[in-house]
Amino acid sequence: MVALAVAVAFLVLVTGASSASAETSGSGKQVYVVYMGSSVHEEAEVTSSLNHEVLATVHSGSLDAARESIVYSYKHAFRGFSAKLTAEQAAALAGREDVVKVFKSEVRHLHTTRSWQFLGLPMSEMGGIPHSSRHHKVILGVFDTGIWPESESFNDYKMPPIPSRWKGGCMEGENFTRKMCNRKLIGAKYYLKGMEEQVGPMVSRREGGSDVRSARDTMGHGTHTASTAAGRLVKNMNLRGLASGRARGGAPRARIAVYKVCWSPGCFDADLLAAFDDAIKDGVDVISLSLGPDAPQNDYFMDAISIGSFHAFRRGISVVGSVGNNGPSDSSATNVAPWLLTVASTSIDRDFSSSIILGNGIHLEGESLAMEQMKAKAELVYGAEVGAASFTTQQSSSCTNGSLDARHVRGKVVVCRHPQDVEESKLGKSKVVQAAGGVGMILVDELDRAMGVSFVVAGAIVGNKGGQTILSYLNSTRNPTALITPPKTVVGVRPAPAVSVFSSRGPNTITPDVLKPDIAAPGLNILAAWSPMNMEIDYNIVSGTSMAAPHIAGVALLLKASNPTWSPAAIKSAMMTTAVSRDNENKVIKSMPSGKMANAFEIGGGQVHPRKAQNPGLVYDSDATDILKFLCGSGYDSSTLQLITGDKRSACPSSAPVPADLNYPAITLSRVSPAGTRSVMRSVTNVGLQNIVYHARVKAPIGVEVKVVPNRLAFTHYGQTLSFIVKFKVLKAEDDYVFGSLTWVDGGRHRKVTIPLVLNTVSED
Ligand SMILES: *[C@@H]1O[C@H](CO)[C@@H](O)[C@H](O)[C@H]1NC(C)=O
Ligand SMILES: *[C@@H]1O[C@H](CO)[C@@H](O)[C@H](O)[C@H]1NC(C)=O
Ligand SMILES: *[C@@H]1O[C@H](CO)[C@@H](O)[C@H](O)[C@H]1NC(C)=O
Repeated sequence: MVALAVAVAFLVLVTGASSASAETSGSGKQVYVVYMGSSVHEEAEVTSSLNHEVLATVHSGSLDAARESIVYSYKHAFRGFSAKLTAEQAAALAGREDVVKVFKSEVRHLHTTRSWQFLGLPMSEMGGIPHSSRHHKVILGVFDTGIWPESESFNDYKMPPIPSRWKGGCMEGENFTRKMCNRKLIGAKYYLKGMEEQVGPMVSRREGGSDVRSARDTMGHGTHTASTAAGRLVKNMNLRGLASGRARGGAPRARIAVYKVCWSPGCFDADLLAAFDDAIKDGVDVISLSLGPDAPQNDYFMDAISIGSFHAFRRGISVVGSVGNNGPSDSSATNVAPWLLTVASTSIDRDFSSSIILGNGIHLEGESLAMEQMKAKAELVYGAEVGAASFTTQQSSSCTNGSLDARHVRGKVVVCRHPQDVEESKLGKSKVVQAAGGVGMILVDELDRAMGVSFVVAGAIVGNKGGQTILSYLNSTRNPTALITPPKTVVGVRPAPAVSVFSSRGPNTITPDVLKPDIAAPGLNILAAWSPMNMEIDYNIVSGTSMAAPHIAGVALLLKASNPTWSPAAIKSAMMTTAVSRDNENKVIKSMPSGKMANAFEIGGGQVHPRKAQNPGLVYDSDATDILKFLCGSGYDSSTLQLITGDKRSACPSSAPVPADLNYPAITLSRVSPAGTRSVMRSVTNVGLQNIVYHARVKAPIGVEVKVVPNRLAFTHYGQTLSFIVKFKVLKAEDDYVFGSLTWVDGGRHRKVTIPLVLNTVSED
């Protein structure tokens, strides 16, 4: 079961959950997804009966047995079903010519507002962005833990009527009536059949469980992400007085439709696909997904998020996903499909800080959101020295559950370590100290001391240096004491932004020649609305790439409102090419914990700049046809393409396209050697002024010569597309990834359209 606690976003992902693809009781059957590509029939009911017929073939032709075993029939946006099957039945279906892939339904995990002010948007619902009168026309789909409809962030004061094209609705359920939807919250649906088939019936809160059978959010995560992307302006949002002030979402006038796919055991593929099938049909413009598969990710067509988002992309819907919280190791990025907009996490210029006052008069600052206060100084002890029998010094030094001896902890402040590899959460350690009677905790985390945690005792996080100071003080005196002051809000912190330690990193493990993540946005210590069913608070401060993704979803809504005809690829390009690479000290954005300059595997194009993204000048556009070519280059054959598209004419070109030639707003080459040159094709579309000339400016990666042909592009009209070639010659191989950039600059230098150049230069092919 998932810990219902602060920083859910983070906890769920780092602690993982039990394997939920477990067999259902004794039958030897599991829930499989049978994905069959696009429907060839317009009528959903025709598609659905065909789905049943296909399933009946593994039930000796019995339609009744098919109906018995089916979990969902996918029939609106794509074709297929999920069903309880034996391995043999699954294999038989996988062998059919009309089936793309069969895979077990896996469990996925869940991976403010100063953050918008920090990104350059004003503290009002309008202003700062052109075309704000159109903002109420766009619709956000949030796939998450549901919503708290009573939150101030979702009030519909002065909202015009719901757009007539909207086909979604408000599903009634436990403690959720249709009346809870309004002109702001225009859709609320929930999906749990897949979850229940896999892990057993949901236990409601009324029966002592932690979920409710409706779109109501019991955890807070979904309420937080929805309000971050599109919450309304709230006058006084704060957590126990911290971070207090006015707060808003990115697109406060946009409509919200909630698709609850995550429950306390996790988010299941079968349910996720059902939500995609509905959301695409309902008419959302942008989907925000703060969850994902574990890295390394599987084949694109064996994962519900990749499949669902592919069909969304084809219908012009932007799908924004978090990159994951498995940083800082390399290749930890998930949600890596090129049709997704994948988001990394950065800090903002706000901190929550407590003072630690040692008995010798030394003051240290530590990060904290602690809920409890110390009234007076108390004796200071090191976990390792107050360990319970049967636990190692190692375990008690990191305050593992049960490892502290209450006789020596009662009434004291405990110093605990937080090594990199531990399973236990930081919040959990404060509970361990509390259980042993401690009044305070100082947590030494060498890697990440920036993430605020709502400790249940007075507490603060310090880094290695602070830890050393405290431990040598402990050693140097007979009666060590400490006092931890309550946390306070500090703004204007420098440098910011910086890449969060937990944010997952590239390269892309499925297609190394497509950059991931794409973009960075605030994900550290973000304040937004919450479900009071979790901790009885209306607002909460949490961290994770889960919090970064809805910032980008908010910007995507603003772009879609101003430019209704833009494709998801154009929206992605507008954000990536205008993103910023410098922090508030005007230095290159740094990556934590190393403090080194952040590279494209950490922040993609850079930190999003919502206002600049409104005026990108040029976009690197692509459509479903380009994605199909990309798939041909990635090993999918014509017959698979025909199923995916539902079009018998789809075919791969005779010479296989190169994945790096996908018109992506980044060039990534995973293997280039000094033998010969490599050429990559790109094209840009003018979305700015007519009669405008752009010149290429290159920052070449180390040891690489870069030529752009032609290096001058003269546009005569809006919407015009011009192509160019980028030629790379490796002069000296680094046997590592090297980074540079290509910028198209207009004559007046008003527009700079920048993409990252990323090359792994190897000595030998
Ligand atoms: C039902 O929702 C209300 C908010 O409308 C909440 O205060 C209450 O605790 C919920 N009741 C149950 C039984 O979940
Ligand atoms: C510690 O272990 C006990 C017993 O297994 C459990 O009830 C408790 O929830 C655990 N505490 C934490 C913080 O993990
Ligand atoms: C504290 O003293 C012990 C034993 O004298 C020693 O092993 C340890 O390294 C000292 N720790 C610090 C932080 O000085």
